[in-house]
Amino acid sequence: MKPALTKFGAQMSKLTGVRAIMKDINETLRAGKGQELMNLSAGNPLILPEVEQLWRDCTAELLASPEYGEVVCRYGYSKGYSPLIEAVTKDFNQRYGLELTERNILITPGSQTLYFYAANVFGGYTNNNELKQIVLPLSPDYTGYGGVSLVPEALFAYQPTLDIDTTAHRFKYRPDFSKLSITEKTGCVLFSRPCNPTGNVVTDDEVEKIAALAAQSDVPVLIDSAYAPPFPALNYTEMTPTFGENILHCMSLSKAGLPGERVGIAIGGENLIEALECFQANASLHSSRYGQAIAALAIESGKLAHISETVIRPFYKNKFTVLETTLESAMPDNLPWFLHRGEGAIFAWIWLKDLPISDTDFYQQLKKVGLIVVPGNSFFPGLREEWQHKHQCFRVSLTGSDEEIKTGMQRFAKVAEEVYRSATVSV
Ligand SMILES: Cc1ncc(COP(=O)(O)O)c(C=O)c1O
Repeated sequence: MKPALTKFGAQMSKLTGVRAIMKDINETLRAGKGQELMNLSAGNPLILPEVEQLWRDCTAELLASPEYGEVVCRYGYSKGYSPLIEAVTKDFNQRYGLELTERNILITPGSQTLYFYAANVFGGYTNNNELKQIVLPLSPDYTGYGGVSLVPEALFAYQPTLDIDTTAHRFKYRPDFSKLSITEKTGCVLFSRPCNPTGNVVTDDEVEKIAALAAQSDVPVLIDSAYAPPFPALNYTEMTPTFGENILHCMSLSKAGLPGERVGIAIGGENLIEALECFQANASLHSSRYGQAIAALAIESGKLAHISETVIRPFYKNKFTVLETTLESAMPDNLPWFLHRGEGAIFAWIWLKDLPISDTDFYQQLKKVGLIVVPGNSFFPGLREEWQHKHQCFRVSLTGSDEEIKTGMQRFAKVAEEVYRSATVSV
């Protein structure tokens, strides 16, 4: 049977962004079974023993408590499981000197769902048929934003400026405030901080500036804090989470060891939270109560924030150092290669300036030497203008072993050298 799809149906039943290349990666991995393949493409966090133990302990505590039946045998509020909302409220009020109440919090089934709700509550066509844009102030950004709007033309991303340190082979993206426009035509603003794929942390000042611009037109700003402190605390540079009437601070427990349980947390102004809560009641009722209950225990005891700082952050920070030092010794100094400053998240982002072939062709070359990384072009959702840079970047996952990262980056350097050299020879 081939059912007729609606406009939304056709839109939502397509794979977007990185998921399309993931199909090729999975086929390559399957075909290459038995071969020595360095797979540095994964977005799935590693299972760290201390983190797994934390969730095991919380599960044991829940199982032993009379609350167990209440948690798994009952529906709950769409807003979320009350002990989790209380734990988050208390933790954030203490930690950041806020005055949150339960009306400022919403728990969702993972944070991807939260972006889907927000993109369609605030972005898209109004009753007057005006298009409200979902503005991504700095492209590249999380590939998953490419599929969140039922109205794809609503997504609008801005090209950044590049802060380049040629001698050190480093660079950093910055929002281009000379171009960024947030007006009454904007439905919401969305960016990840720390950023997947680049590891960028938009500075505190830049966040304040974006939030102030948006406040002028009553535009909500969603700060995707999937890698931010206090959990999973995957920031390697100082950063202060920003809160405010028009800000939705959006968290995920996925990188804190709980991706399967689907727990996302939004903190923000009451009116914003209420609109999203109603959408959730219609779309999915609520998030898994088991996941919420163990999260409540881990946050209430302070253990989640502690493990994030003492285990999760140093683990990935060390992986970045391995990658950085390997690239420094393996990449020829005369090639125009640039590593994005490693300020957070679980990825490294490499830019090969003036790369003679496309990122997709380069990815194919890497496959031949047994290395898989993700070509960068799928991380520019919503960016309309053609920009060569889009086809010159690669996302490398820090979820490999130290050895895999080392060998992988040595192979990357060899292929890069070869590709630039053969282009010079053929000129
Ligand atoms: C920046 C960013 N935001 C959101 C998500 C979605 O996370 P989840 O839906 O598991 O909370 C991810 C997942 O990788 C991510 O990297």
